[in-house]
Amino acid sequence: MEKTIAVLPGDGIGPEIIRQAVKVLDAVAEKYHHRFVYRYADVGACAIDSTGNPYPAATHEICMTSDSVLFGAIGDPKYDNNPSARVRPEQGLLAMRKSLGLFANIRPVKPYPSLLSSSPLKDNIVEGADFIVVRELTGGMYFGEPRGRNEAGDKAFDTCVYSKAEIERVADVAFAYASRRRGKVTLVDKANVLATSRLWRETVKALHAEKYSDMQLDFMFVDNAAMKMVSNPRDFDVILTENMFGDILSDLAGVINGSIGLLPSASSGEGKSLYEPIHGSFPQGAGKNIANPVATILSAAMMLDDAFGASEEAAAVRKACEDAIAEGACTPDIIPGSRYGTEETGDFIAWKILAL
Ligand code: IPM
Ligand code: MN
Repeated sequence: MEKTIAVLPGDGIGPEIIRQAVKVLDAVAEKYHHRFVYRYADVGACAIDSTGNPYPAATHEICMTSDSVLFGAIGDPKYDNNPSARVRPEQGLLAMRKSLGLFANIRPVKPYPSLLSSSPLKDNIVEGADFIVVRELTGGMYFGEPRGRNEAGDKAFDTCVYSKAEIERVADVAFAYASRRRGKVTLVDKANVLATSRLWRETVKALHAEKYSDMQLDFMFVDNAAMKMVSNPRDFDVILTENMFGDILSDLAGVINGSIGLLPSASSGEGKSLYEPIHGSFPQGAGKNIANPVATILSAAMMLDDAFGASEEAAAVRKACEDAIAEGACTPDIIPGSRYGTEETGDFIAWKILAL
């Protein structure tokens, strides 16, 4: 097959980890006789520096005319410490999600057997955990209007808005995943306090009764879900939740895996899908060859699987990552004292694919 991939390295460690994912995709292309054409574009702080816009029209055009999008990370400390900056790199990510219609973000969590002890949680808690977070990605407080300050500037507000249609379309995605897994969806909300959460509960309950009654649907308040995630993560199969709760819970889920550097994600919706690691731009690690590239490489595997229907190739990438971790050929965040940096880990995984 021949596919074009929009490649958006972004900021911080983004370019280094993306380079490894491209290396691995090249190995897949060589081994399975595919052709991948990469089209590079700027997003985030690097795009502000070159164009003044964190998600330039030219980048959007490249995404829309490619078969899929691979994205690294966004964010730069020079903006984090400047609350009065008018343009921020993160706006690029939000604009990209909104304009590509990426309303569903899938974040799978499954610890590697050889890494159980790298989690700060006890082995018997994380062992056997296997769930996905389906996070709504284009609504809620991230996008609700009105937002901003009052005239005096001494009051600020954000608005959480959800429509029934926005809830239904992402709930459909969650049930579709559950039907291929253990058939259980847990809706995480704060229905004891928030009106939006009550609409989520009502809508998902009705949808379940109407279309998915063969599956199990549970409800859990977000505070309780945070506690359950680190005390009994095996209880979850598919977690369905709104944008902000999903953001917070998916970082927490990184603790179960032992490193946030191992968690990939896929975002899909109205057309193009986008694949990215769940971690940020780790500016302190940029250029040091220490960032773990596995989350980005596994995001490329999700692309092969979901966007290109190349499941054998995706399985080969996952297996190569597993082998790298089991054989200690990975970065020091998970292999203490490791001699493998970002590049060497990418080389090893690409080599494994060719050798498998
Ligand atoms: C994520 C990130 C983003 C988010 C930031 C960088 C805007 O934390 O993808 O989880 O909050 O969605
Ligand atoms: Mn986040």
